[in-house]
Amino acid sequence: MKQVQVGLGERSYPITIKEGLLAEIGNELKLQQIGKRYIIIADDRVAALFGQQVVESMEESGLSVELITFPHGEANKNLQTIADLTSGLAQRGVDRKDALVALGGGVTGDITGFVAAVYMRGIPFIQIPTTLLAQVDSSVGGKTGVDIPEGKNLVGCFYQPQHVLIDPHVLTELPREELLNGLAEVIKYGVIYDANFFNFLVTNRRGILDLDMPIVEAVIAHCCTIKAEVVAQDEREADLRRILNYGHTLGHAVEAASGFTIAHGSAVSIGMVAVNSIAVAKSFLTAERAAKVRDLLVDYGLPVAVPAELDRGQMKGFLKTDKKTVGGKPFFVLPTQIGKVIISDDVDEKLIDEALG
Ligand code: GLY
Repeated sequence: MKQVQVGLGERSYPITIKEGLLAEIGNELKLQQIGKRYIIIADDRVAALFGQQVVESMEESGLSVELITFPHGEANKNLQTIADLTSGLAQRGVDRKDALVALGGGVTGDITGFVAAVYMRGIPFIQIPTTLLAQVDSSVGGKTGVDIPEGKNLVGCFYQPQHVLIDPHVLTELPREELLNGLAEVIKYGVIYDANFFNFLVTNRRGILDLDMPIVEAVIAHCCTIKAEVVAQDEREADLRRILNYGHTLGHAVEAASGFTIAHGSAVSIGMVAVNSIAVAKSFLTAERAAKVRDLLVDYGLPVAVPAELDRGQMKGFLKTDKKTVGGKPFFVLPTQIGKVIISDDVDEKLIDEALG
């Protein structure tokens, strides 16, 4: 078992990482008394996979628990789902002494966190992330919200969970593409923050891809440690936290221009390689170091080239409307070496054109 603390004063919380934790959730939560009653929120697919196990574990520990589901998919991460879920809570008489449990991937975590933040002006919630992406990134740090037709995650708030409970064993149920989504974010941490971790990912590729549990547990714990350090210093993304968006500015443009047919992790991988070429063109990063990052992404089976069929003009339009863009200027997280980055909005349009290919 590994434990990481997110240090945010009175809003601090632990992240517990342990193989088999899902079956012990009841015992874990019983010790903490976060809610009088627990309302698990899961999408229909995750509810079918893990819902029963979590409910039984909690009931066996004498906890009062109910499960509410919503239809799976990013298309349902919208205000209608928030309206449906909050009505569901009100109809069940859920009050401020009760707690929500987000059981699922990033969509479920974002939705449940937002519902917890706004229902009765805020009730406690717990994250049980079931995808690698959610385990290493979205369940930690308190970003919550939904999409609106004008853009992804445009409505939301920062609202921290009380505990994040991670069972790496659930990853054995994930489709390969879902695993790759998370691995792009894992590699991101090595490039932005920790050269030793990057080398660990080079050396342990086979064990990670084969889901060797002690190695995977160590990887998740390390990513959570980095994220916790960053979030503790800059919860609301005024400055440092922006480094977590490495590869995401161009990546989101790729994702959006593909009509979201390119998965988030693949788009971030493409975005990391594209932004590295800007860093090389600006002489911040050597071509040799950029090649090392590219090679690692390829070795993990991630794509690295902007697909030829994507409309470059449309991608540049998405860069302008990205919520990370300020005053019409997108910012870029540019590596200077493996493990170190700078943030800059001083990038010529010509370099962006060249990066998009
Ligand atoms: N996923 C980036 C962040 O949480 O800041």
